[in-house]
Amino acid sequence: MELKSVIEARRSIRRFRPDPIPEEHIEQILEAARLAPSGGNTQPWRFILISSPAAREKLQELTLGFVAAAPLTIACCTDLEANRAYRERYRELLQARAFEGVQLKMPEGASPGDAAMNADQLKGYLNLNTAIAVEHMILRATDLGLGSCWVMMFDRKKLADWLELAPNLAPVCLLPLGYADQQPLPRPRKGLNEIVLKTV
Ligand SMILES: Cc1cc2nc3c(=O)[nH]c(=O)nc-3n(C[C@H](O)[C@H](O)[C@H](O)COP(=O)(O)O)c2cc1C
Repeated sequence: MELKSVIEARRSIRRFRPDPIPEEHIEQILEAARLAPSGGNTQPWRFILISSPAAREKLQELTLGFVAAAPLTIACCTDLEANRAYRERYRELLQARAFEGVQLKMPEGASPGDAAMNADQLKGYLNLNTAIAVEHMILRATDLGLGSCWVMMFDRKKLADWLELAPNLAPVCLLPLGYADQQPLPRPRKGLNEIVLKTV
């Protein structure tokens, strides 16, 4: 599909058919996440694939009922320590000539570096990057004819305990995926006049 059509066709899907998702589609969806941009190329996103009947049943205990009906749910997490490899990522970017011809000296106070952030700010910053990867997956899934839904309503503690997540892994959202069993109308949106404040 053309990107514009994908963006227009995407809906939050909350009713799924039981049909399994072809493996190659799952790979392509994960590949779309892998290619997402991230601050300093940190790539803090980490994923756990939940698809066995037993695991899906377990999901019912910790999130909205419709999630467990999807043949696959991706638990999308952030590695809160991903920024520790900042220098390595920077070296890779230099090797890839990412900054060729670019003046990297920043105005004072403009540094996005983690040195200036407290733990909460850093978590917010890293989660932002994971969110971009999630949306890449959602758009690729739409492109492949699959439905999905961002789900942030879930018991984070229960999920972390169940999946035995290391303390540095923070769950961001659940992403149920499958063939839609509904064809929702477009959901309401604000007009451009409400979201574009001004041109200066
Ligand atoms: C960050 C985020 C969190 C969301 N969390 C939930 C959720 O927990 N449960 C749910 O049913 N939908 C959730 N949604 C879906 C929104 O309700 C939905 O995107 C919005 O109503 C617009 O509908 P549309 O996605 O079909 O355009 C979430 C969406 C986003 C972007």
